Amino acid sequence: MLKTKDIIDEKNKLLRQVSKEVEFPLTDKDRKTIDEIIEYLTNSQIPELAEKYNLRPGMGMAAIQLGIKKRYFVVVHEYEEGKFKNYVLINPKIISNSEEMIYVEDGEGCLSINRETIGITPRYARVTMEAYDMDGNKIKVRGREELAIAFQHELDHLNGILFIDKIDKKDPFKNKDKMRAI
Ligand code: NI
Repeated sequence: MLKTKDIIDEKNKLLRQVSKEVEFPLTDKDRKTIDEIIEYLTNSQIPELAEKYNLRPGMGMAAIQLGIKKRYFVVVHEYEEGKFKNYVLINPKIISNSEEMIYVEDGEGCLSINRETIGITPRYARVTMEAYDMDGNKIKVRGREELAIAFQHELDHLNGILFIDKIDKKDPFKNKDKMRAI
C-alpha cells in the first residue's frame, strides 16, 4: 500500500525532469504501481479512510511523483458523491482544447507541494486527450471543469512543470477577469 511519504516533494529535482515515453507491454511493476495509485487516490478522497491511513486528499498522481520517470498518470474523479471513475493515461497528449479558460478559485493543490500557495493557474475549460490504456490500446478521453484541470495538471508533471510555475510571480491574480473561477 502506498504511503504519503512515498510521494516526493517539490524540493526533489526529479519533479523537474521530463518523463520518458512508456513502451508496451507494460511491466508488472508499472501495473502494480498504477493499482496502488488508484487505491491511494480513491481512499484519500474518502474522509474516514484518508484519516485512518494518513492520506493527503488528491485526485491525480503522475508516476514521477513516486520517482518513476515514465509518461503516465492516474486521475480518480469523484463524479458523484461517493462514486469514482478511474482514468489511467499513458503517453498522453492534448489533441484539442476549448478557448475558454478557467482556474480553481481556492488554488490548485498538488500532493508534491506541501505549503500554502496563492494565485491563479490558467487552464483550458475543456480538453480532449489522446493516450494509451494499460493494454496499449489508443484511447480518447474528454474532460471538462475539474477533470480537465486534473488532466492538464498531471500532463504538466510529465514535462517537469508544477502548477506554481504557471502563477504569475509579480501578479498572482493576473487576467482573473478573463477566466472563469470554478
Ligand atoms: Ni501535482
